[in-house]
Amino acid sequence: MPAVIQVTPNPTVRKAPPKVVGPTNANPIRPTKKLPQYMINEGLARQPIQFDATKHLNFEKPSKLYTMEEIGLAGEGISNTAASEPFSLFTPEAIKQMRAEIFSPGVLENNQFASAFASNMIRGYGPKLAPFIFDAYNSPEFLRVISDLAGLDLVPASDWETGHTNVWFEDGQVDVNRTEKSAFSWHRDSFPFVCVTMLSDCTGMTGGETAMRMGTGGIMKVRGPSMGTSCIMQGRYIEHAALTAEGIPERIAIVTAFRPKDPLVTDELILTGSRPISHKEDLYYQYSKYRLDVIEARSRHQFKKILEHKRYGRDFDANEMKQWLAQQRDFIDAWIEELI
Ligand SMILES: [Fe+2]
Repeated sequence: MPAVIQVTPNPTVRKAPPKVVGPTNANPIRPTKKLPQYMINEGLARQPIQFDATKHLNFEKPSKLYTMEEIGLAGEGISNTAASEPFSLFTPEAIKQMRAEIFSPGVLENNQFASAFASNMIRGYGPKLAPFIFDAYNSPEFLRVISDLAGLDLVPASDWETGHTNVWFEDGQVDVNRTEKSAFSWHRDSFPFVCVTMLSDCTGMTGGETAMRMGTGGIMKVRGPSMGTSCIMQGRYIEHAALTAEGIPERIAIVTAFRPKDPLVTDELILTGSRPISHKEDLYYQYSKYRLDVIEARSRHQFKKILEHKRYGRDFDANEMKQWLAQQRDFIDAWIEELI
């Protein structure tokens, strides 16, 4: 078992993050920039292997874990962890297999997207086409590592947000590269936590840091990951930007988004970032499926609570019930708003 880091979850009640607005009715855009042949060849050469945590995880603690207090955002977010310095997570064999699955013919056929922010993204391919990637991100060993760093138990947000891959490569068109390398302007993510893993050799890279806006208004920079290393960030609650990276011919980062495993924990996951780069019907199905599960678990929990109360002869607390109902109403209202 990899070493664990204990971070105390943040138990305080905090204010909701600002509403994030984005395109609502865009149909997914397909990339116009064709992937280099060497990437396609990696996919064609794929030899399927089974994920094995003892062989494919190589976790080492990050040199530094930043807390929400340290960046001046005490009491915000759903845990005390803000972000990490890059840490070793996967072995070279795992990285190679992830690349081979991402570039495999079945995945490339229907799962390439583009947006105003990035010209090539590969996402939404699901476990049938990429079993190694899905087994890795859903393995108990991986989830233990990521949950310990985050300071609360996490699970992948959905299949759509498992293994989202940003692909950037040098194609000789200077203008396009310029805008894109510095494309990710200040923003908040749609998900509580993300884990970013670098699938490219970053030897010779300059820049590529992530900048975080501190509560004081100042800016803190975190080093970007290099080949095989990963970073986590509580991106829904921290305004951040990816800084320009120079000096490398390709930059491929695989990103998985997470939500709290415990249905009783605050859940403010939204679909703003996903909607323009997803098949909407499937995205809404996955979102509604997990939210119905959350509502069911919360209702069962509340049901048991009032039964226990009564069993001990205590008066029914109508105010407490009203408060619970109002919280669920907010959760459902936010859900309705997302199904545009
Ligand atoms: Fe982000």
